[in-house]
Amino acid sequence: MSEIVRFGVSIEQDLLENYDSLIVERGYATRSEALRDLIRDALIQSKIENDLTTQVLGSLTLVYDHHASNLLQEMAHVQHDFHEVVLSVMHIHVSHVDCMEILAVRGIVSEIVDLADKLLSLKGIKNGKLFLTLPSSGITERK
Ligand code: NI
Repeated sequence: MSEIVRFGVSIEQDLLENYDSLIVERGYATRSEALRDLIRDALIQSKIENDLTTQVLGSLTLVYDHHASNLLQEMAHVQHDFHEVVLSVMHIHVSHVDCMEILAVRGIVSEIVDLADKLLSLKGIKNGKLFLTLPSSGITERK
């Protein structure tokens, strides 16, 4: 683990008050811990957006109507095309109509975004979201 350093921050009073309310709401013990998470998230998102060859891991959540014609075959077909990045799939029968699938994914950003776009645009998919992050070693690496 890297050495901990302290630094001063100049900030408007009302902005700090809002920040303090937010960190209490989210359950952080200290301002420092909340700030570290904000910084990590900014670094992760920046790296992912700026370099589509970055190795990432994440999850893709899909909610769909399992009665939609051909949807299951099309979903399986796309996932087989991306078998190297799809690590695991969890399927939940949400109701008589809806299913939810959560795909654990790992690979380069461009491939995973391509996979997500192909699945999210299928007819019958009601909603979905891709979450990407980096292994902890990838966060602190310098550019
Ligand atoms: Ni189901």
